[in-house]
Amino acid sequence: MNARARRLFFALWPSSAMRGELVTAARATLEAIGPARRVPVANLHLTLAFLGSLEEGSLSSVREAAAECASARGAAREPLQVSFDQIDWWRRAQIVCAVAARPERAAADLADALRRALTLRGFAPDLKPFHAHVTLARHVRHGPRHRPLAPVVWRFEEFALVESRTEAAGALYSVLERWSLYSTRGA
Ligand code: 2AM
Repeated sequence: MNARARRLFFALWPSSAMRGELVTAARATLEAIGPARRVPVANLHLTLAFLGSLEEGSLSSVREAAAECASARGAAREPLQVSFDQIDWWRRAQIVCAVAARPERAAADLADALRRALTLRGFAPDLKPFHAHVTLARHVRHGPRHRPLAPVVWRFEEFALVESRTEAAGALYSVLERWSLYSTRGA
């Protein structure tokens, strides 16, 4: 890989308090899985659009796509809300994740808008159908299906462009930039 390429994705990036709430609600499931496969608490997030490796020179165009989506949502008056009420195991991906039993329209609309804006600019985001989820554990060969979770609501005022690096200790994520998700005008 080119040394200047960066592995990037757009995400809803929670605070540590929000992460803590989710981990507390999912405690029994996580304890059963054991520590080796769990995603470190500081890494929990909700991916909106995965871009893969991009040259540094493409970043301005990626930022443009983000700004366009942020301004399209600018008329919204409320933070974007996602409510998790189920734990699921996805066989193909071999992940255990927190999901919403009913589709989360606001997050899906933002993910779709980002993917469209990126595709229009010549990028190739992962176009797997969007299903809002937070990966809690990886490389899980058998896990719980549709297990009820005491509801946890995450509210976001921003979305983020994140860089992912793989270090000896595992994935290291850094937020590069954030865009506001709603307008406070007239609030
Ligand atoms: P996941 O949570 O379902 O594993 C950084 O790798 C983030 O991008 C992860 O949260 C991962 O989702 C997501 N992602 C989506 N598509 C991906 C892909 N094709 N390769 C790697 N990560 C991907």
